[in-house]
Amino acid sequence: MALQVVILAAGRGKRMHSTLPKVLHRIADKPMLNHVLATARQLSSLPPIVIYGHEGETLRQAITDKDVKWVEQKEQLGTGHALQQALPIISSDDQVLVLYGDVPLISNETLKKLLAAMEPQSMAMLTAHLTNPSGYGRIKRNAKGTVECIIEEKDASPHEKTITEINPGIYLVPANLLKKWLPNLNNQNAQQEYYLTDIINFAVKENITVNTVQPLTHEEIQGVNDRLQLAYLERFHQKQIAEKLLKQGVSLADPNRLDVRGEVDIGRDVYIDINVIFEGRVKIGDHCRIGPNCVLRNTVLGNGVEIKSHSLLDEAQVADEAIIGPFARLRPGTQLGKQVHIGNFVEIKKSVVAEKSKINHLSYIGDATIGKHVNIGAGTITCNYDGVNKHQTIIEDNAFIGSNTQLVAPVKIGEGATIGAGSTIVKDAPKNRLTLARSMQITLTDWKRPEKNK
Ligand code: UD1
Ligand code: CA
Repeated sequence: MALQVVILAAGRGKRMHSTLPKVLHRIADKPMLNHVLATARQLSSLPPIVIYGHEGETLRQAITDKDVKWVEQKEQLGTGHALQQALPIISSDDQVLVLYGDVPLISNETLKKLLAAMEPQSMAMLTAHLTNPSGYGRIKRNAKGTVECIIEEKDASPHEKTITEINPGIYLVPANLLKKWLPNLNNQNAQQEYYLTDIINFAVKENITVNTVQPLTHEEIQGVNDRLQLAYLERFHQKQIAEKLLKQGVSLADPNRLDVRGEVDIGRDVYIDINVIFEGRVKIGDHCRIGPNCVLRNTVLGNGVEIKSHSLLDEAQVADEAIIGPFARLRPGTQLGKQVHIGNFVEIKKSVVAEKSKINHLSYIGDATIGKHVNIGAGTITCNYDGVNKHQTIIEDNAFIGSNTQLVAPVKIGEGATIGAGSTIVKDAPKNRLTLARSMQITLTDWKRPEKNK
């Protein structure tokens, strides 16, 4: 028996007040539907089925996971009708797990418990006890405590509304039973919808056991209908990530002020100050310190690296013991060697800087290859762009570039060369020599400062 996951995602999401389909709204910078697809993948090797209603093309384009079966539900006639649309492409031998595109945080652990609760020719579902059950379908149990039916809030009597055990809507059912039951649903209810919840009535009639399992957290069964709920689940998700990092031995100044929007791999004895954002894939070695208000995107740090406050690292590779920032910007293609120092208001793009070189203040380095032990003075600019093409700057080992130098690329500064401050260098500078390109300083001995007219 294979597991077929079906994700219902045809609802409109009016309360998001958005042109974007609801399930494309993001948690941790990933569409909600992608979170659910990723969970489905962990449970089953069969491609998940997604039931969509509106903007199928937008959905398909936005979802990077291409091994998905898309099924359209042309009219939204209810959850039972939605699932029915998938039946023709489901094998009767499969078990069907129903998930929702707008319930993004359902966990693998909880679903594994649900799978474990499944016996042959029985069904299993999640239920939860909520202090405020309003809005949810309520679980009615008989005297023996077994599930009898699910009453939708809109169909419930005042007494039934006091039931606090609710239906999160996540079920595990043999496909052959769904194929028998779903065509017999009717819409004789307050909402005139084909309720998926009515399958419980069929199960009870046919003496099919309905086992129930509780989720590990209430947040994981929460749906998103508006941006308030989206923001709440974002914070919950982030807190879970932060707690996992703390347990793994990462020090966080404040677990409420870290945002991970992708995957992080963090070594031992790393300290992360407040308001740090990780995006994409970020790898951090041992003994690193990340200062407050930094953003690291698709970046790799070696061991003992220090990133000082307000720095932005985007597709950068930083070797051991480098010191970056405060206020540094490393753009894509930056590769820094061991013990490199990059200081405040320094921007580096598509450049390699070898070990122990220093660029400490107010510089732009683009399309450059910089050797070892190079010192780049404050205000140095590589003029890499002539308005049409980009050109390379090469600076060899031990060169010293005086402050406020413009290096007009393509240009090469030889090993051990010194460039006088304030130079505009348009030709290669030879190694081990002082090169300068600025007007010489003069002093006028007979000059007098003008005096105010009387
Ligand atoms: C449903 C359950 C209710 C449960 C609640 C949990 C039914 C009849 N009721 O409520 O017992 O407590 O979920 O949130 O199943 N959808 C479609 N096509 C449709 C209708 C819905 O794909 O025609 C999708 C929606 O996109 C959404 C999900 O199904 O992801 C649930 O729909 P929603 O209207 O939020 O739930 P209810 O029917 O109110
Ligand atoms: Ca509804």
